[in-house]
Amino acid sequence: MLATQIVMSRRPSGPLTKEHFRTETVVVPPPPTDHVLLRNVLVSVAPAARAVMQGPTYRPQLQPGEPVPSSVLGQVVAGPPGGPAIGSIVGAAAAWQEYSTVPADEIWPVERVGRLSHHLGPLGRNGLTAFFGVRDVGQVHEGQTVLVSGAAGGVGHLAGQLARAAGARTVGITGSAEKGEFLQRRLGYAAALDRRSPTFADDLRAACPGGVSVYFDTVGGPLLGQVLPALTQHGRIVCCGVTAQYDSDQPPPGPPELAVTLIAKSLRMQGFLVADFRPRWSEAQRILHGLEQSGALTFIEDIRQGLDAAPAALIEMLDGGNIGQLAVRLTPDPAEWSAGTGS
Ligand SMILES: NC(=O)c1ccc[n+]([C@@H]2O[C@H](COP(=O)([O-])OP(=O)(O)OC[C@H]3O[C@@H](n4cnc5c(N)ncnc54)[C@H](OP(=O)(O)O)[C@@H]3O)[C@@H](O)[C@H]2O)c1
Repeated sequence: MLATQIVMSRRPSGPLTKEHFRTETVVVPPPPTDHVLLRNVLVSVAPAARAVMQGPTYRPQLQPGEPVPSSVLGQVVAGPPGGPAIGSIVGAAAAWQEYSTVPADEIWPVERVGRLSHHLGPLGRNGLTAFFGVRDVGQVHEGQTVLVSGAAGGVGHLAGQLARAAGARTVGITGSAEKGEFLQRRLGYAAALDRRSPTFADDLRAACPGGVSVYFDTVGGPLLGQVLPALTQHGRIVCCGVTAQYDSDQPPPGPPELAVTLIAKSLRMQGFLVADFRPRWSEAQRILHGLEQSGALTFIEDIRQGLDAAPAALIEMLDGGNIGQLAVRLTPDPAEWSAGTGS
């Protein structure tokens, strides 16, 4: 069988362009006995793909000619006896491909709850990242001021809403006034800041007069240094991602006062991977779905059509062009999924 995939054509040395990608037609062999062959329905577009094009992360560095990694939701076409049912939908860490072959013990089940596309975003890794980042790592509670960077993005738009649901006052940082307006009008943020504003430091002080109790940071980079002075005594920094540092081959400029500020204010700065919370994913998905159904959470998706749309979507995302969860649809939801989902 022949299928399409998108590979990295050459390693970027600066901002990503379409020339860093190539679409290929490849032969899909039958899967090895302990693997599952998936026909992908939806694939994610995530900043982590850019990071791995540059160097190793929690994944090995991508090599030219290799398909661009992404989370996928795919329909099982073939698999080992005792494995997932043929025709069922599962999640996997795979790539921008029409068909992916993945180890059977690395797929995850997709519960028939909510819309299928939600399992790539708000009920998938990004939603779970927001959930555990706010509740477990940030330990957000009533009366706090929570500042979120990348606040209109896949993780950020949920982190801010979850913090608000926990009783916090939320302030979002985005890359444009339009996104900031969206945060306040649609997602309940108390205030929004434009990271590109020349008056950012003053804007931050005005938006957080009592200081920032928790900084939920999805972007890292120079913003972290600008936010540090605004943190309250015993504040927390939830280190979720460093998007600002991905689209370059240069080392990140570090905030010079980082260590001294951490000490002087007794700050807690903690990184985490959503995979750390794997045993609690189902429980969290049920809570997130319940919050959405009750109207306490709004899921925002931006789904592009066709595998060829993926490179441009990633480039646009790294330039701040997306609101909510960005993903690419390859095929309609299989009829097996829609039958009886109930929502
Ligand atoms: N820890 C984990 O387990 C885990 C799991 C999932 C995701 N993540 C991380 O979470 C982060 C967000 O992922 P996502 O999929 O939700 O992406 P996203 O926030 O939807 O998209 C990236 C956003 O980053 C902002 N941005 C881009 N360049 C920037 C720069 N130079 N400085 C500041 N902001 C910049 C842009 O928003 P504005 O222009 O509006 O600022 C852009 O929309 C990523 O770093 C990802 O790797 C971590």
